[in-house]
Amino acid sequence: AEVIIVQNEEEAGRIYGRAVADLIAKKPGAVLGLATGSSPLAAYRELAAILKEEGTDVSRVQGFALDEYIGLPLTHPESYRSTITRTVVEPLGLNPERVHVPGDSLNGAGLDDPACAEQILAAGPAYDAAIRAAGGIDVQILGIGTDGHVGFNEPGSSLASRTRLKTLTEQTRVDNARFFEGDLDQVPTHCITQGIGTILEARHLVLLAFGEGKAAAVRDTVEGAVSATCPASALQLHPHATILVDEAAASQLQ
Ligand code: F6R
Repeated sequence: AEVIIVQNEEEAGRIYGRAVADLIAKKPGAVLGLATGSSPLAAYRELAAILKEEGTDVSRVQGFALDEYIGLPLTHPESYRSTITRTVVEPLGLNPERVHVPGDSLNGAGLDDPACAEQILAAGPAYDAAIRAAGGIDVQILGIGTDGHVGFNEPGSSLASRTRLKTLTEQTRVDNARFFEGDLDQVPTHCITQGIGTILEARHLVLLAFGEGKAAAVRDTVEGAVSATCPASALQLHPHATILVDEAAASQLQ
């Protein structure tokens, strides 16, 4: 992977925004892989600004989100469908029908509902098939968990995994409680996430990491062994992965 140390999130955002704007200029039906969480927010803002300034037609752009909680209705403000609508679809002016989130079909159905178990199991392969039918993802933006997860592929996830149901680790639920009024009980326990094998099929991966809290995960990703212990280390297997980090997130690199 190429590691680029940037001043701040805005600078990383401009690098991402330029790459995506150039892609859409060449390929109006470009397929964007989308992440939620805090790391990509500046990138989406910078991209939106570039597209607006250049008057880019985005009507054919497609999007596929990485993951979604299980058991939150789509209308919940912290569902990833709501988050992607608010942070990507609206500011970029994308056609919402062309933007997909895994588990959309479940709409809040939970694991406690046996009638939905089968639906949840079918949703993963259906999502992978939809990505394939769209021609694959051109640029996948990624954040990284403090435990090295990408998407919600927690440590121990198979590096060949496909989109599927996963259990969130306690660490990830604690990290994400800030989106749920700091109340751990409100954070879902399960999710559906693109697998690492799915993520590795995107043609270009752009991983963003900012702040000291990500430094150990970034070190393990870039300099550690390729291992399910740090799922993001699978990026070492990808021919075109760009890692954009600030000084703090790069502080444990050699
Ligand atoms: C979000 C996702 C997660 C986050 C990661 C970092 O769709 O897949 O892997 O990217 O948890 O989250 P932030 O950016 O909030 O630190």
